[in-house]
Amino acid sequence: MANFIVTIDGPSGSGKSTICKMLAKNDGFIHIDTGKIYRSIAYLLGETFSQDKLNKLKLDFKLQDSQILLVANGKILNDLLSSEYIAKKASLIAQKEFVRSFVNDFARKIAYNGKFVIDGRDAGSLIFTNAQLKFFLTAKTEERAKRRSIELSINYKESLDSIIQRDKQDSERKVSPLVVPKGAIKIDSSNLAIEEVYSLIKSYL
Ligand code: DC
Repeated sequence: MANFIVTIDGPSGSGKSTICKMLAKNDGFIHIDTGKIYRSIAYLLGETFSQDKLNKLKLDFKLQDSQILLVANGKILNDLLSSEYIAKKASLIAQKEFVRSFVNDFARKIAYNGKFVIDGRDAGSLIFTNAQLKFFLTAKTEERAKRRSIELSINYKESLDSIIQRDKQDSERKVSPLVVPKGAIKIDSSNLAIEEVYSLIKSYL
C-alpha cells in the first residue's frame, strides 16, 4: 500500500487531537500524536534528562483501535501523559535538537506504510514535508485556555498561563519552531464546533 499522510499542526488546545481521533475512528486513518512522544520522553526521563539516557531509552509502540499507543517496560503510557505538568516539561525538552531527531525518527518509523494522520507542531513543516495534505489548526488563546481547563478540570487562569508559556516556548525556540507549514490549509476554530472543523477537514480529503 502506498503511504497517505495528512498532518495537522497547531498550538495546544486548538483541537488537533480531537480531530485526529475522529479521523481515526471514522475514516480509516492511524493517528500518531507526536506531542505524546515528547510527553513520554519527559515522563520517562524526568529531571535526570540527558542525551545518554535518551539513547538508552526503550520506547516502543503498538497499534490499537487506529491509535498509536506508546509503551515502555510493557506499560502503556498514553493515559499517564495528559497533565499540564508533563506538557510543560515536554515543551522544555522539545527545545533540544537531539530530542527532536529522536521523535522525528520514531514517528517516521511508525508511518512507513498506510494511511496516517499526524498531529504536532512540525509534522507538516519538518517531519513529513511530503504529506499529501497539511492543515494548520488554531484558535484564540482565551478559547484554547477555556477548552483545556474543561478537558483537564483545572482552573481557567492556570490553563491560560500554561498555554501562554508553552505557545511562547514552542514558537520562539531555535530548532523547528511552531510555524504554518508551506501549503497548509489554515483553519481558525475559535468560533467553530468540533463537528464543523471535522466537516471542513473532511471536505479536503
Ligand atoms: O501537542 P502536545 O500539547 O501534547 O505537545 C506537548 C509539547 O511537546 C508541546 O508543548 C511542544 C512539544 N511538541 C513539539 O515541540 N513538537 C511536536 N511536533 C509536538 C509537540
